[in-house]
Amino acid sequence: MKIAVCPGSFDPITKGHLDIIKRAASLFDRVIVLVSVNADKTYTFTADERVDMIRACIDEAEDVQVDTFSGLLVDYVQKVEACAIVKGLRAVSDFDYEFQQALINKKLNHRVETVFLTSSSDYMFVSSSLVKQIARLGGDFSDFIPAPICDQLEKRLREDMMEE
Ligand code: PNS
Repeated sequence: MKIAVCPGSFDPITKGHLDIIKRAASLFDRVIVLVSVNADKTYTFTADERVDMIRACIDEAEDVQVDTFSGLLVDYVQKVEACAIVKGLRAVSDFDYEFQQALINKKLNHRVETVFLTSSSDYMFVSSSLVKQIARLGGDFSDFIPAPICDQLEKRLREDMMEE
């Protein structure tokens, strides 16, 4: 069985992420959407919230599952016996960062391959942080965020602004 891991912060999941996950699912027998938990990073949503938001947007079944991790990605990949890490590439600007991570991961575990899927042209410019900025400033972000989580994003950002 060919298993792929799609790692990321997913803070929150965007339509661009969803597109990559669906396309990865058509290439591999099983895809694990892996929500990263990094103590040095500040997230808008907790890991559990990010997982629940992803679950609200996908049909979690045998072939697409959601999990969290806080360690080294290659260790997780080895633990679940995945053969590949799948990442989306939006533009040249993503390349340096993603290339560096792919090379480091390969160095850490030579059996781990990274597969890049080019972003769909509809989502080339979409990132979680830009979407949050649009939402904070009262813009319409519904083209970029899956419908099941739009209200939750709007509510959280409104709460955050009231606290500031
Ligand atoms: O959505 P992001 O923030 O670009 O995701 C980055 C992520 C989670 C894939 C990356 O930070 C990661 O792999 N973190 C796990 C820690 C690790 O393995 N680091 C060494 C390789 S870069």
